[in-house]
Amino acid sequence: MIRARSRSPEDTRQLAASLAELAQPGDLLLLVGDLGAGKTTFTQGFAASLGIDEPVTSPTFTLAREYHGRLLLHHLDVFRLDQIAEVLDLGLPELLDSDGVILIEWGDAIRQALPNDYLEVALTFADGRDASPDERVVALSPVGPRWQARSDTLAAAIRQWAGEPPC
Ligand SMILES: Nc1ncnc2c1ncn2[C@@H]1O[C@H](COP(=O)(O)OP(=O)(O)OP(=O)(O)O)[C@@H](O)[C@H]1O
Ligand SMILES: [Mg+2]
Repeated sequence: MIRARSRSPEDTRQLAASLAELAQPGDLLLLVGDLGAGKTTFTQGFAASLGIDEPVTSPTFTLAREYHGRLLLHHLDVFRLDQIAEVLDLGLPELLDSDGVILIEWGDAIRQALPNDYLEVALTFADGRDASPDERVVALSPVGPRWQARSDTLAAAIRQWAGEPPC
């Protein structure tokens, strides 16, 4: 697991933008974290780095949105569990084959049904006495050979956010 620390929404966007520079067609990212942890904020930075100018909003009520940039970005949200079947109907392997990159908010809810190659990005509220409300821990878990082969590159890409929390 590769850990980093974000101290502001802008930090999260920039960290995501650095990761997007490594994005390849067929990549799948699972965004995991409680309500308001920053999954959509992460997606906004990721999209901007792909050259997408459109505002990226939460797809909660639309299931999936598609944005055209350097790569085609599919932004999905499975917050409502009854959306799981609909998400699976979208045919994720086909989306990945068509030069797309998929980011799924609440992706852990359908982990069992996903291809076994993905990057899990877990955002958690930092705890601790001195933690600011804007602080998040960002943990990257590369799953499967496609992502494990990029572990060192991922760690290097987010090195500037790897600092220890202030004491
Ligand atoms: N370090 C941070 N990283 C990301 N967002 C932050 C941070 N600090 C504060 N915020 C704020 O937290 C909120 C995160 O909202 P966002 O919609 O990105 O979360 P989410 O995980 O997508 O929530 P939901 O589960 O409702 O989809 C925003 O209002 C953002 O400004
Ligand atoms: Mg969201």
